[in-house]
Amino acid sequence: MDILKLIFGAIWFILPAYTANMFPVFVAKTKFAKKYNKPVDFGIKYGRKQLFGAGKTWLGLIFGIIAGSIIGFLQGTLILGILLASGALIGDLVGSFVKRRFGLERGERAILLDQLDFLIGAFIFSSVIMEINYSYFLVLVFLTPSVHLLANYLGYKLGLKKEPW
Ligand code: CTP
Ligand code: MG
Repeated sequence: MDILKLIFGAIWFILPAYTANMFPVFVAKTKFAKKYNKPVDFGIKYGRKQLFGAGKTWLGLIFGIIAGSIIGFLQGTLILGILLASGALIGDLVGSFVKRRFGLERGERAILLDQLDFLIGAFIFSSVIMEINYSYFLVLVFLTPSVHLLANYLGYKLGLKKEPW
């Protein structure tokens, strides 16, 4: 069926971005990260709050991009994978930047922003080498919040995350 083809095509396309966005949760739990990890903003403040906050770290960023790129490589589209993975995590940083400017604490909920910042970042970065597929984008805008909420709920139940969102 065409609709299924569209949905699976969209998920396959965005897989490096999903991977990049999920991977830092695991990285942050490692002993190595607990010892050496640093926030991307090095704790620097902008106004009343940190630039991005303590939830955005270098090891999360670097290993998230590597993990997403490996998925892209396995898919046979390494360059696209690198763009989707780095776009996702830069989008996630921008999302946190916006949250901090609205005075939200690290981990506080921001409906839609939390779920879509990385998706938008990934699509923008991918547009460097290809036309944006707006059908995929539309499918993923509707699909991603449910996937994101489910993944975060599982992460919470598994003790990987402090909040269930
Ligand atoms: N994480 C990380 N580095 C990143 C992104 C995420 O180390 N670049 C880890 C952090 O441990 C973070 C967790 O993954 O707490 C979940 O990510 P996310 O929900 O995006 O961050 P929040 O803690 O909710 O922070 P924010 O309020 O800024 O979204
Ligand atoms: Mg969060």
